[in-house]
Amino acid sequence: MSDKFRHVPAATLTGSMRDYRYPRGPDLQDRIEGFFKWQNLRRQNGLWPFSRSTEDSPSTITSARDDAGNMIQGVNFGSQDYLSLSTNPVIKQVAQEVIETFGVHSAGSAALIGNTSHSVLLERKIADFLGTAEAILFPTGWAAGFGVIKGLVRSTDHVVIDALAHTCLQEGASAATKNIYLFRHNRVDECRRWLEQIRAKDTQNGVMVVTESLFSMDSDTPDIKAMQELCHEFGATLVVDVAHDLGNLGPDGRGHIGLQGMTGKVDLVMGSFSKTFGSNGGFVACRNREVKEYLRFFSPPCTFSNALSPMQAATVLKAFEIVETEDGAELRGKLMANILSLREQLTAGGFEVYGDPSAIVCVKIGAEALARLVARRLPEAGLISNLVEFPAVPKGQARLRMQVMANHTPQNIRDAVAALRDAYEAGNAEFEWLNAAGEDAPLRKTA
Ligand SMILES: Cc1ncc(COP(=O)(O)O)c(C=O)c1O
Repeated sequence: MSDKFRHVPAATLTGSMRDYRYPRGPDLQDRIEGFFKWQNLRRQNGLWPFSRSTEDSPSTITSARDDAGNMIQGVNFGSQDYLSLSTNPVIKQVAQEVIETFGVHSAGSAALIGNTSHSVLLERKIADFLGTAEAILFPTGWAAGFGVIKGLVRSTDHVVIDALAHTCLQEGASAATKNIYLFRHNRVDECRRWLEQIRAKDTQNGVMVVTESLFSMDSDTPDIKAMQELCHEFGATLVVDVAHDLGNLGPDGRGHIGLQGMTGKVDLVMGSFSKTFGSNGGFVACRNREVKEYLRFFSPPCTFSNALSPMQAATVLKAFEIVETEDGAELRGKLMANILSLREQLTAGGFEVYGDPSAIVCVKIGAEALARLVARRLPEAGLISNLVEFPAVPKGQARLRMQVMANHTPQNIRDAVAALRDAYEAGNAEFEWLNAAGEDAPLRKTA
């Protein structure tokens, strides 16, 4: 058995990116070299499953190169194209037509002349879809998350934020104020406690509460209604990031906001187009023109960054039109059938999956070393899927994040589960073999 396995340097199975986050030394470029050394060791041992580039569309079966240049091919559960709209023929047709008329670039910020007629229609479409008075576009979802906070919150204000909220939201909060209060994931009671404490001392400054409608590592959801009520009670403003469920979840595609009867009732809804709507880009939906105009001129990633390209705005507009039609409902139906089937087959195969049914199906692996060894085997088993490890998730809770698409077939799902089982068995056997190896076994150091 042991000839199937090979020793790898201990450092490839231990450590994390967190180790390199606060490098010390006076030279900003010299002091970061340790990261590359560690990363390269992992790369040389086939244990760096990040930074891949597709050689094909992000479809259900795709080919890609890892960042050492090796070709990989297989069923694709690593791309976030939940409704499979990135290759939808109608959307591709729109993109081609728009390029003919508008060229490929918008050549300006939305605060100047970067918007196109499609952007203006898209803003209207998003506002109508979400039942808000207005919506404003951002160049990316990240920019929208960062920008809604940095645009509205000032240094004397307060941000109360779910501890697991996306980095764009955390960074937006850090850039805006030092007054940041983390509440444990989805704990409305803790959020309330922070609001009580803040308002007991400060009734003069603003408070923003920040959460997501579907968390992308745990596939779970807060009680949005309760959080909005809390915000009303304490004179705070709620921001909900709907990046992962808008358009693809719920009978009408309004995600958990719709499922909780909160359409049109959340103070600020922030979203991304990159998971469901086939393009880069993001938005903030808000209650009136005043907020929209303020964000346009005081939210730096909107004011000082180039607007979406004409093709992006037009294709997202078409994607929203599809989402609203019977075709959209059919795609959501196919997606949910795939999600349920994948979760069921994984569970039957002895795997544990996180959270509630959504397009994100995270499979529990555990120790980082084990997860890296399993992930190394995935491409040869024929599955493309992403490893998530600390610090993106807590230590010892590494997982494989499988992202489901409407166009996945029953066979794709069976193949993916079979591939994962093969990779897991081999990776786990190697993990145990390494653990049992001599004194300097790398895994002893991960305990
Ligand atoms: C919850 C959440 N918000 C925002 C973003 C940023 O969106 P984008 O990648 O479209 O910039 C992401 C993407 O990773 C996300 O998961």
